[in-house]
Amino acid sequence: MFNTPIQFLSGPLILRPLTPEDTPALLAFFDSHDEETIRMRYGHYRNEMTVDAAKRLTSVDQSRDPALALFTTGRHPEIRAIGRYYLDDAGTSGEAAFVVHEKARRNGLAGFLLGELAVLASERGLKELWGTVLPDNHGMAALFLAAGGTETTSPIDEEKIFHLPLDRLVRWRKRFLTAKKIHSVSP
Ligand SMILES: CC(C)(COP(=O)(O)OP(=O)(O)OC[C@H]1O[C@@H](n2cnc3c(N)ncnc32)[C@H](O)[C@@H]1OP(=O)(O)O)[C@@H](O)C(=O)NCCC(=O)NCCS
Repeated sequence: MFNTPIQFLSGPLILRPLTPEDTPALLAFFDSHDEETIRMRYGHYRNEMTVDAAKRLTSVDQSRDPALALFTTGRHPEIRAIGRYYLDDAGTSGEAAFVVHEKARRNGLAGFLLGELAVLASERGLKELWGTVLPDNHGMAALFLAAGGTETTSPIDEEKIFHLPLDRLVRWRKRFLTAKKIHSVSP
């Protein structure tokens, strides 16, 4: 699953879990985001990410809270997209979140990562992924709906909550990979 190039319509990228060594790459990725991307991903605008905050995001326990990234190929890999989920206390569901480089969107990167997270979660016995989406985040909402999610609105704020049963998600993944012509490339 990891470290072999994945062919997207936009070119090949390498899929692997983030490691603490990726902290500088994560900081550079954050620096590439515009205000809108940061607000959509984190729910509010923050103008910088500290090294400590970046380390926390790259140093998760991958056996519990997987954080997958797509890197450019070549000698100085750069992050193009991150998808992660945080396991809920009950152990049967996880909160998923994604961010894709502004110049790499609509090539299937977020959908691909959602599918890979679904496979991992399913192998680990989870039943569902879920995600919160700001009311004006039509892109993320469209992806969650396309992947079989059902939508509710948070009673506390205006955020939308999408619940994605893993059996549906895993079936959708196959169709998505075919439609987007995404496949791994033999080294
Ligand atoms: C939302 C986001 C993750 C989508 O990433 P992406 O790699 O461009 O998404 P994909 O290419 O995998 O999209 C797959 C499908 O989702 C839907 N979709 C994605 N972005 C969309 C958009 N901006 N408008 C409408 N539909 C969209 C489409 O159905 C798309 O398929 P299509 O391109 O064949 O129409 C990306 O725009 C992003 O990083 N946004 C800022 C951060 C964010 O919102 N994070 C979500 C917090 S949980």
